Amino acid sequence: MILNTELEYKGNMFPAKIVSYQKHIDTLVFTTENNVILHVTVQRDSVLRFRYTTTGIFENDFSYAISRHASRGYNFLEVSEDDDHYIITTSKLICHVSKLDLRVAIYDVKDNSLICEDELGFHWEESYEFGGDVVKMSKTAQPGESYYGLGDKPVDNNLKGKRFENWVTDSYAYGRDTDPIYKTIPFYTALHNKKSYGIFFDNTFRTFFDFCHERRNITSFWAHGGEMNYYFIYGPEMSDVVVNYTDLTGKPHEMPALWTLGYHQCKWSYYPESNVKAIAAKFRELQIPCDAIYLDIDYMDGFRCFTWNKEHFPDPKRMVKELADDGFKTIVIIDPGIKIDMEYSVFKEGLDNDYFCKRADGPYMKGKVWPGECYFPDFTNPKVREWWSNLFKELVEDIGVKGVWNDMNEPAVMDVPGKTFPNDVRHDYDGNRCSHRKAHNVYGMQMARATYQGLKKFSYPKRPFVITRAAYSGTQRYTSSWTGDNVATWDHLNIANLQAQRMCMSGFSFIGSDIGGFAEQPNGELYARWIQLGIFHPFCRTHSSGDHGEQEPWTFGTSVTDVVRKFIELRYQLLPYLYTAFWRYVEEGIPILKSLVLYDQADPHTHYRNDEFIFGEKMLVCPITGPNQQGRRMYFPQGDWFNLWTDEIVTGGQELWVDADLDSMPIFIKSGAMIPKYPIQQYVGEKEIDELLIDVYFKNGKESSQVYEDATDGYDYKKGRYSLRNFKLQGKENELIIQQHKSGKFMTTYKTFKLNIHGLPFKIKTIQIDNVETSFNDLNLNGDDNTLIIDKEFTELHIMA
Ligand code: GLC
Repeated sequence: MILNTELEYKGNMFPAKIVSYQKHIDTLVFTTENNVILHVTVQRDSVLRFRYTTTGIFENDFSYAISRHASRGYNFLEVSEDDDHYIITTSKLICHVSKLDLRVAIYDVKDNSLICEDELGFHWEESYEFGGDVVKMSKTAQPGESYYGLGDKPVDNNLKGKRFENWVTDSYAYGRDTDPIYKTIPFYTALHNKKSYGIFFDNTFRTFFDFCHERRNITSFWAHGGEMNYYFIYGPEMSDVVVNYTDLTGKPHEMPALWTLGYHQCKWSYYPESNVKAIAAKFRELQIPCDAIYLDIDYMDGFRCFTWNKEHFPDPKRMVKELADDGFKTIVIIDPGIKIDMEYSVFKEGLDNDYFCKRADGPYMKGKVWPGECYFPDFTNPKVREWWSNLFKELVEDIGVKGVWNDMNEPAVMDVPGKTFPNDVRHDYDGNRCSHRKAHNVYGMQMARATYQGLKKFSYPKRPFVITRAAYSGTQRYTSSWTGDNVATWDHLNIANLQAQRMCMSGFSFIGSDIGGFAEQPNGELYARWIQLGIFHPFCRTHSSGDHGEQEPWTFGTSVTDVVRKFIELRYQLLPYLYTAFWRYVEEGIPILKSLVLYDQADPHTHYRNDEFIFGEKMLVCPITGPNQQGRRMYFPQGDWFNLWTDEIVTGGQELWVDADLDSMPIFIKSGAMIPKYPIQQYVGEKEIDELLIDVYFKNGKESSQVYEDATDGYDYKKGRYSLRNFKLQGKENELIIQQHKSGKFMTTYKTFKLNIHGLPFKIKTIQIDNVETSFNDLNLNGDDNTLIIDKEFTELHIMA
């Protein structure tokens, strides 16, 4: 008798020898004797795409991850062959494809060194249950190879020795090593012999990655369906790998409005209106800066999206306006589950237009979420996204809501195994109809995209702001994100640090954690330490489930409130610095936080560091992540670093103790840096900026810095109305020269810079501005504090002993 299991398990199958080769412009097509076809597409000189089919036919080439703005083109391409291989050469890479079995090996064109090599290479198993293949790839790990990336995994930076699964999952109170959680970003970078490359496995089915876990010298990745379809991205700098991955999957479509980089206050839930108002008023009373206040699910009528609970919020438009008058932007939550209720217009419209997901044999996908039984829009259908985007008209255009927070979009379903849809649910997938097995990992992304389209439309001419919990590669084009339902523990503070760094090196920089922890309640010390880390995360929001007590900056007594205020104020002072880092991210894909390995891969000490990171380009930050600490040891990368608080200089390349009582934390500035600062404001735009403070940190040598500014919102910057200042600093024993090159048409409101020079090794005798000697009086320079006020239009400042 033949048992099903025997039928099902045919074991691994492998490509046979190559029987034909063709070149179609940038794509090389290799066909094997057993009908496996490999497409190698030269996307760029350093980016190769590998795509395999086992049936002789490729599916429609469609990806939600790849940006339509992704760069394409190469400088050089030559294909040759020897007895055993086809050899593809670009200006950066040499790729060997074995004639015997399609195995691939990739070398650096510069020195012929091996970068990445197939072990078994591509192989597959047929899936009896679902049809199609389980597609697999295995590669030989090179000696000393390390691995990084993979989105929101709550684990140490270096992934070596671990195995992961990607299946977007609602993970209340997840912990260290919980896997999978909310996001699927199937992209990693590898590093060996001082060279880095990346692999992006663009397959939305359930995917797996094994980094020398199952077998010590092997890395592998596989998927429960779809194609073996991956991009190989060469550096050799890891920062270039990340930049190229971000180019491929997209940078945010626009700069965030500056206010979105302020501090946000959230709780499940602030209601009724009087409570929201009281919280807002308290911020102003205590002079703790805050730009945004959130309404969680209780603002709705019975958790029906796009409705209001009129008892708690009798006149939302008035409330939102009054909050706005006080500098608060109102942000509301919107979930995907639509309550089954024939009296509810959103449900009726969805039903009438056939917008809800259905099971394989017909019925609607019904599942329980906050409102009770719900149906769920199929956000992979472009018509549904268009409908959804228009639902925001009233909220945004009429009521004045400034941002929308998408939650539960994994999609989360309560009280069922797997906490999500069953596999058989059908999706449009933009015309490539499929089951939930394929659409699951992109469902939340497509919801956030539809929300983004709505916000973009109705916020116009201002910029949209969206937050999502679930994400797949590419979601960074549309929205910011947070790390989901963490817990108020010290270990979670560590995890938040790791997750934010990891997301940034996975192309998704607009990320933050629920400061203080979502579940349970932190004590004052933990909250203060978390705020200290949180102000260095691109998205900075306190959020908590609320059923464990209060979690506002003033909850833990005056001394903690003072610490919290001090650090939120620092965030507001650093806004032009952070905005410039965002601009680098939006323009070039440069991550806003850089783990030390990303910052200096040549230094092997960085390969296993977790806590320290670079914020923007010039600030080294290391949170205190345990109780009762008055300081900590931390590693300093190469270079000289100024202690932010004391101006003491530390030479990098060593691990050192740094003092940090509760009102302090280790923050260091790279020597030569010029850090722009705004005055403390209670919210963005409260004050007109009448002078730009720039902290200049002396360096014996050269360093360049940038300051990007624009109207802080709107789209004029895309038409050249921005102000980009490039500063070149050159310090010597007895002189300091700062050159400025300005571009862009935007006129900043201030006329002068206040330069505050730290660590100047000599007493100033002479100052020349654009070659003209200038009196100290004209510059307000007096005493020894080395602070001078200078016209913002200078091109060269020359300070001499
Ligand atoms: C989920 C979210 C959380 C939110 C809650 C209620 O748990 O992750 O942020 O407060 O739902 O909407």
